[in-house]
Amino acid sequence: MSSEFALELSDVTKIFAKDRGEFRAVDNVNLQVRQGEMVVFLGPSGCGKTTTLRMVAGFETPSSGAIRIQGKDMTTVPVNKRGIGFVFQNYALFPHMSVFKNVSYGLKARGEGVEAIRNKVSAALELVGLSGSGDKFPNQLSGGEQQRVALARVIVMEPSLLLMDEPLSNLDAKLRLHMRTEIRKLQKHLGITCMYVTHDQAEALTMADRIVVMNRGKVEQVGTPFDLYNAPRSLFVADFIGQANIVKLPVVAVDDVNVTAAIPEGGTLTARCAVSDGECTPLRKGDVAALIVRPESVGVEFADRAEKGIRAVVISAIFGGSDVEYQVRLADGSMVKASVPYRNGMDICREGSRVSLVIEAANCVFLPVT
Ligand SMILES: Nc1ncnc2c1ncn2[C@@H]1O[C@H](COP(=O)(O)OP(=O)(O)OP(=O)(O)O)[C@@H](O)[C@H]1O
Ligand SMILES: [Mg+2]
Repeated sequence: MSSEFALELSDVTKIFAKDRGEFRAVDNVNLQVRQGEMVVFLGPSGCGKTTTLRMVAGFETPSSGAIRIQGKDMTTVPVNKRGIGFVFQNYALFPHMSVFKNVSYGLKARGEGVEAIRNKVSAALELVGLSGSGDKFPNQLSGGEQQRVALARVIVMEPSLLLMDEPLSNLDAKLRLHMRTEIRKLQKHLGITCMYVTHDQAEALTMADRIVVMNRGKVEQVGTPFDLYNAPRSLFVADFIGQANIVKLPVVAVDDVNVTAAIPEGGTLTARCAVSDGECTPLRKGDVAALIVRPESVGVEFADRAEKGIRAVVISAIFGGSDVEYQVRLADGSMVKASVPYRNGMDICREGSRVSLVIEAANCVFLPVT
């Protein structure tokens, strides 16, 4: 039964009929998910996340390609034969049944004995922090508690794969943050392989072992949160994950992995090209390249105190406690965001101040302008 991968998608495509034509909702997706891994599908509305998850679940059949679960081809196997658990946005609890009955429902349907059911349900309720709530009804529970019941109902079945589609989007912001950590802890503790869909990039960054960024049905990039944040391979990923300044600069030199570009006010800046892969970069001298600069990689100094840097004017400075969020305008009119850690007694560069920006090139990457 054990396979190197818990889930494998090979060239999975889903085509829907649309306006007398065809629409590729999912386009040639390939992915291998390791046992116990939490893979988060992230992308804008309509990019094909739910459709991909529904094909893994068996609610949709791929137009082409194959889906293997624990090494077995499941592409056309019915939903109830896949050994999968689902948690959706609407908890879909049975309103007329107690928490205990909701959680035991699947075990009973599977024909398990009374004693085994009692033990498994109480273990599952304990795992989600709801011991003692077995006799309550869903309408006596908060949204977060209902979502925990939904989770308990799934894990009690010990599925080989857990699928979650925006499970937290009905919860208020604070609870959502809390449940992120809870789900992640539980998933790690149980060692359960999980495919999780969200369009919230902060959720993806905090929960995932790996993130699959989708755009228009295609996978843009797969990587750890760290990789995607620090080495985005496209402007789409750079812009979608975290905040990014995209500064267009003329290339003056390239070597195997580095690109050097001219910066306004003279001087040059050298950084990695994120699509080099140890080979040569696709960028050439004379091209315009996009420098991806995270706000925390921009230093802001009063211009008259700085020896070097790019000249800019502060448009807004927002004190946020641990840091100051700046919006500054460069000489060419483009806007740059900077996030500077605040230390006691530090001068904040107020609106209208002339400042000098120092970019930490080691934390930046170049990409071709597409
Ligand atoms: N049964 C269907 N028939 C036709 N088109 C569909 C069907 N299901 C999904 N689509 C289309 O496929 C595209 C992808 O939809 P999907 O639900 O996978 O997006 P999503 O990434 O989950 O978006 P969201 O973040 O809004 O939930 C959309 O354009 C949608 O309209
Ligand atoms: Mg969806």
